[in-house]
Amino acid sequence: MVEILVAEHAGFCFGVKRAVKLAEESLKEARGKVYTLGPIIHNPQEVNRLKSLGVFPSDGQEFMEGDTVIIRSHGIPPEKEEELKRKGLRVIDATCPYVKAVHEAVCQLTKEGYFIVLVGEKNHPEVIGTLGYLRACNGKGMVVETMEDIGEALKYEKVGIVAQTTQNEEFFKEVVGEIALWVKEVKVINTICNATSLRQESVKKLAPQVDVMIIIGGKNSGNTRRLYQISREINPRTYHIETADELSPDWFKGVKRVGISAGASTPDWIIEEVKDKIKEICSGSLVS
Ligand code: F3S
Repeated sequence: MVEILVAEHAGFCFGVKRAVKLAEESLKEARGKVYTLGPIIHNPQEVNRLKSLGVFPSDGQEFMEGDTVIIRSHGIPPEKEEELKRKGLRVIDATCPYVKAVHEAVCQLTKEGYFIVLVGEKNHPEVIGTLGYLRACNGKGMVVETMEDIGEALKYEKVGIVAQTTQNEEFFKEVVGEIALWVKEVKVINTICNATSLRQESVKKLAPQVDVMIIIGGKNSGNTRRLYQISREINPRTYHIETADELSPDWFKGVKRVGISAGASTPDWIIEEVKDKIKEICSGSLVS
């Protein structure tokens, strides 16, 4: 009898779940076609499932008046949203509330007279969106992606620091520490979302309790690969798969307990398929 345990925090984060739900619901009142501005999530299986329902990823080329456009969880600059509305599109804003909190933080700090340091990746869509909000509230600021970037910020007397929601905590700490050494007044609003660290902590807890760990998620998904590495360091019998088809019966010989975790871009239905396939392979009972 095999036991299957799913990590306490696994798969879609709150913001992505919400965006997918809004996309599905938007179909009900759609007059024209329904699009997401860019793929709603970096998971081809989920994007295909949504396509089969009538939600198509698009870069904006084919939009026609009356179509529905869903802004994904990363958010977009406000001027871009206005442009979509001016074109007569029905805009559904699925920006994650934690990302919205970063938009509010940069404008709040601007009002208080701070120069903004946004710790994040310069080309990330979330960062591009946040910089749009900073411009809209007439703020001044910069993105810090590496320690070499912070020089400009040290010229200001008041610096307000925020982070891209998925920013690495250690790097954020390093930037805050360094700026605080040189700048007269520093105000920090920690806007890091804990979805990633919760997933990592859950894997650390589960991996030592089971014989085999299965990590589900895109092979190109950074956060899934990180879960795999963490798990493998604790439990060498860790396997990284994208779908249930990749499960090999050899992995489960003599196994009593199987642990499952999944990256933030893995939908629940793929986790369920993997659970079912493991049950089938082991013909055991299911506990989760
Ligand atoms: Fe997800 Fe929102 Fe956090 S999209 S990773 S819950 S910022």
